[in-house]
Formats: sequence, structure tokens, C-alpha cells
Amino acid sequence: MPQLRWASDLHLDHASPAAVERLHADLRQSATIPLLVTGDISTAPRLSADLIALADAAAAPLWFVLGNHDHYHGSVGGVRDAVIALATARPNIQWLPPAGVVPLDATTALIGVDGWADGRHGDPLTTPLVLNDDKLIAEIATQPDRLTKLAVKRALADADAGRLRILLERAAAMATTILVATHVPPLVEALPASGRLSRVEWHPLLVSGATGSVLRHFASHHPRHQVHVLAGHSHAARDVQLLPNLRCRVAAARYGAPHVQQITI
Ligand SMILES: [Fe+2]
Repeated sequence: MPQLRWASDLHLDHASPAAVERLHADLRQSATIPLLVTGDISTAPRLSADLIALADAAAAPLWFVLGNHDHYHGSVGGVRDAVIALATARPNIQWLPPAGVVPLDATTALIGVDGWADGRHGDPLTTPLVLNDDKLIAEIATQPDRLTKLAVKRALADADAGRLRILLERAAAMATTILVATHVPPLVEALPASGRLSRVEWHPLLVSGATGSVLRHFASHHPRHQVHVLAGHSHAARDVQLLPNLRCRVAAARYGAPHVQQITI
């Protein structure tokens, strides 16, 4: 069974130099096991440097998807250009969507898409909650109002969902267990069942309905495949079995305390 190191929502721009050094030391200790990062690594201006430092410490392939924060103080287009250029210069650092289907062993494959919260759960136009995405990501910030900002987020979410549909079919031809990395939890059930984040006001900001629909549809039509989703974004640990062959795990995270865990798929 393949082993991975999994980190999510590292938010390295919020971590002290000592906390980053502890993370790098942990990575050096378990070197050679591939590292998977499910978004919110840092912010656009420093993202490439942070990825290089992580990969150097991990001394292993680094696969990642982008989180909403990774575009802060930049743009979606600019960050995508930067990570594609980085993968050319450093082939061990791969943004997952363009990496395609990554075989982990004879029966297990890894795919990934970023995923965007798309307001398909809860009411995105009346929730009192707003993420900094609306101010700090160029493509969204330049939109004049809530409705047009939502349209951009939905377009991003739908494009990722379309890509996920294609990647799932390609992976299904190669593997019986498909590991799906994504930043935004694809299903409401992957949010905490109680407490602040369970409130419906959060749903538009914390769930990607688009990727959730694709995953449910694929899993229900491929009963002989196991789909195992790894996500972040909410910072609230969850491990839920949505269907007999669809499991979703969300990583715990805390600002200022970046960490990595070992998992077996
Ligand atoms: Fe996030």
C-alpha cells in the first residue's frame, strides 16, 4: 500500500521562522516518502520559494493543488503560470492538474484539482460571511459586486470539476483505488457536524458543489473503484464515508503551526 506524507493549509506566511524550520526538520526525517500538499501553502508572491524549500527538505516528489490563499496578492492566471514554470525548472515539484494521473503503485493512482467554494450550498448572496478572496485575488477583486464575484468563483469551480471528471475516467482505466487531492471540501458532510463551521452560513464559502457532484456521480457509477478524497480549507479534521466507495478526509490545520502527517492509502 502506498505511503504518503500529507500536509494541508500550511499558511507559511503566518508561521514563524522557527515553526517553518520545525516543519522542514520533520520533512528531512522522513525523506524519500512522496509529499502531497492540498493547498493554502502561502501567498502568490512567495509561493514558488516556499514550494522549493518544501521540496528540498522533503527530498522526494512534491505534488500539490493550489488553495484560495495561494492566489492572494496575485491572480489565478499569474499563479498558474508560475507553478507551471516551476515544474519545468524543478520536475520534482508538480501542480497536480497538469501532472495528469500519477501512478502510486500497481492499483493506486493520484489525481488532483484545486477546487473553489462555489456557493452551491447555503445562500451565497445573503450569508454575512466573506472571505478575503473577494479583495485579494485579482480576477475576483476586480468584479464590481457580490453576484459577479460569485460568477467568477463558479466558473473556476466548474472548470476544475470538468477537469476532475476527465481525470477520474483516465485514472479508472489505470487503477482501482483513486486518490483525489483537492483544496476545498467537495461535500457538506465533510464539514464538522457541530460547532461554528457546521452553520449553513459557512457552506457557500467552504464547499465546492461542482467537484462534489462529479465525485458522487463517478463513485456511484464505478462501484468497483474506491475513491479516496484528501482536502483542506476548513482546517477542521474530518473522515467521512459518503458512499461505500467514496471516502473524504479533511486535514486539521492551525495558523502558525504547520505540520505534516504520514498516511497509508
Ligand atoms: Fe483555503
